[in-house]
Amino acid sequence: MKNNTVLGIDIGGSGIKAAPVNIKDGKMLAERHRIPTPSPATPENVASVITEIVDHFKWKGLIGCGFPGVIQNGVAKTAWNLDKAWLSTNIDKIFTKACGEPVFVVNDADAAGLAEMKFGAGVGVRGLVLLCTIGTGIGSVVFNNGILVPNTEFGHIEIKGMDAELYTSDAARKAQNLSWEKWALRFNEYLTQLEFLLSTDLIILGGGASKKGDKFLPYLDLKTKVVTAELENNAGIVGAALAGQYQYKLAKKERKLKKGKK
Ligand code: BGC
Repeated sequence: MKNNTVLGIDIGGSGIKAAPVNIKDGKMLAERHRIPTPSPATPENVASVITEIVDHFKWKGLIGCGFPGVIQNGVAKTAWNLDKAWLSTNIDKIFTKACGEPVFVVNDADAAGLAEMKFGAGVGVRGLVLLCTIGTGIGSVVFNNGILVPNTEFGHIEIKGMDAELYTSDAARKAQNLSWEKWALRFNEYLTQLEFLLSTDLIILGGGASKKGDKFLPYLDLKTKVVTAELENNAGIVGAALAGQYQYKLAKKERKLKKGKK
């Protein structure tokens, strides 16, 4: 890893965004580069966007990547808003092979949460912190006393008989032409359920809608304090870089352990 710098990539339902990140202070070291998510968003098509991004930054070295689905050991277990061809694929391997640099993938909301806990609204917060990303889907991540619980997927709890993200994601707001007030009242119902289920101490709202807090925060009525992500939509890129470094170190440790056992 050069000078604590990792390339962070955030794969979303509508755009793939990236920038080199200094993982010591969370600062992006170049203007972020965005490429629209290809359609269909198959592993081959997305892998070629990853390669385009690597070429754009002339990147050599470690890459961390946030992906909108459940990721276990680099393998995609769900992909709600991307092509179903992702299911059971080892994304770490696909991207590493495509761009020739080491890539480690984690859930995109987990990545955003890591960034907010280290550099943003969650710094030093004890107890139960819930971060939700509001975009094409609804991402969720939970930290208890700063410790991440991965792949929570609370965007898919049932609300009003339907999948929550179809009821109250940013994509649902746009598709159903909802006013901010109408949408916020739906989102409030959603957060009220999560607040009840998790006994939250702080709720952080990230993703594309995080810049528009003034439009919907006044309509939310919860017992828990609610704030928008301090890193706004860049939390996904910064957190992907952090997660990349963490996974890289973990893989190195595992290799060492295996060697020792032989
Ligand atoms: C996915 C999550 C993801 C979220 C935000 C949901 O549809 O199931 O894994 O974090 O969208 O992208």
